Amino acid sequence: MKYYINTYGCQMNVHESEKMAGILEKMGYTLAENDAVADVVVFNTCAVRESAEQKIFGNIGMLKNVKAKNPNMIIAVCGCMSQQKGYPELILKKYPYVDIIFGTHNIAKLQEFLVQKQTKKHVVEVVETEDIRLRDSMEPTRTSGTNAWVNINYGCNNFCTYCIVPYVRGREVSRPMEDIVCEVESLLKQGYKQITLLGQNVNSYGNDMADENITFANLLKQIDNLPYKFRLRFMSSHPKDLSEDVVKVMANSKNICHYLHLPVQSGSNKILKAMNRNYTHEHYMSLIDMCRKHMSDIEFSSDFIVGFPGETEEDFEDTIKLVKKVKYQQLFTFIYSKRKGTVAEKMPNQVDIKTKHQRLSKLIEIQREIATEISSKYIGKKLEVLVEGIHPKKKGYLLGSTDFGKTISFEGAEDLLGSFVLVEVQKSNNTSLSGKIVDILEKSNSEYRLPLDKIRRK
Ligand code: SAM
Ligand code: SF4
Ligand code: F3S
Repeated sequence: MKYYINTYGCQMNVHESEKMAGILEKMGYTLAENDAVADVVVFNTCAVRESAEQKIFGNIGMLKNVKAKNPNMIIAVCGCMSQQKGYPELILKKYPYVDIIFGTHNIAKLQEFLVQKQTKKHVVEVVETEDIRLRDSMEPTRTSGTNAWVNINYGCNNFCTYCIVPYVRGREVSRPMEDIVCEVESLLKQGYKQITLLGQNVNSYGNDMADENITFANLLKQIDNLPYKFRLRFMSSHPKDLSEDVVKVMANSKNICHYLHLPVQSGSNKILKAMNRNYTHEHYMSLIDMCRKHMSDIEFSSDFIVGFPGETEEDFEDTIKLVKKVKYQQLFTFIYSKRKGTVAEKMPNQVDIKTKHQRLSKLIEIQREIATEISSKYIGKKLEVLVEGIHPKKKGYLLGSTDFGKTISFEGAEDLLGSFVLVEVQKSNNTSLSGKIVDILEKSNSEYRLPLDKIRRK
């Protein structure tokens, strides 16, 4: 029996698909070549923008004929889109051949749903909350090579006015610190070289716990002290909650990367207020300065939304000014998308689509120039690189990443996968670097886990 998981959306979903793959493999399923030849197909969905939903609907629609030829195929739809009010009914109406629908809070019950399906036409279960211990009890089938994802908190309390996430992921719940540290230690023992901590807002880790020593800074310190050489990354950080304590821990650590994804969304104070982000352009810039004071080599990335309701040319210019001041290494840029049930959905002065596209293009163009300039400053420098994969196009070449998250290519043998090497940078462009290995810093002695590509993110 074969399974296939189609994953959409953020890293949180990628990791949850790993957990569902773990359940299916324990049941005896193996990975199929593609969804058309699988016995169980799971759609792990995203609802953050309308475009994501349209893509998912299109892909579920494409299985109609396949299922008609193979009526025993089971199709399950889960994740953020299924969690929205009215969506299970909508999905069943549009695609009556879907068998199982569940939300974000009960993925641990996948096996039970498959058993129930044997005697029911449809299995639909969307619940409001879950016991996170149940979620943490799942053993994931990990798929991202040298990197392992680790959840630290679930849900979100921030209610940014454009965002659907708090409605589909529920309120913030932190995992016990000892459970997280224990999981990370076991992963490092198994040979993983990079740990990425996941939360919608990692900086508010522990806020829901009575013990005031349970903070993100203390969690980072405990993980950093584990006796292994590895890279520690985390995402995402909300600027309103980023503390100097966290930045100092990063600066004084052995393993935490000097790289921060700090989503700002807009450079206009009027728009930031309307978005309910709870910080200003000036406060955000003071955070960037504080980080640079403690770590002169830190690089930043960010998320931006263009065309939020009421955004004028002047507001957009404030965004451009901020981008030029910070000089991000990388940006994730989005056109504002109306989400049902959010506060911004009902706001006046929605921006027309042509203006949104023009602003997006301008922002991308400016960022391309900045990223090219930032990359070029590394030419001639020797950088520590984690070897992560084989170059898909250049024979005999490998791919790795720098501490500050830039992809770099270089010539090398496959047995270096999972090792830390020193690479001298020779060329650069806006997205990547290339160079030559000048030293091997730590050869991987654990069996490198090639990306199994069991979970294809769409
Ligand atoms: N919790 C993280 C944060 O606050 O940065 C990530 C949230 S979301 C999954 C990732 C990004 O999607 C957000 O930072 C925002 O830029 C973008 N986003 C969220 N809702 C959106 C919407 N309605 N339209 C366009 N982009 C949106
Ligand atoms: Fe959405 Fe804001 Fe929460 Fe991020 S912090 S998930 S953007 S509501
Ligand atoms: Fe992530 Fe999309 Fe849900 S971005 S939290 S999968 S709405």
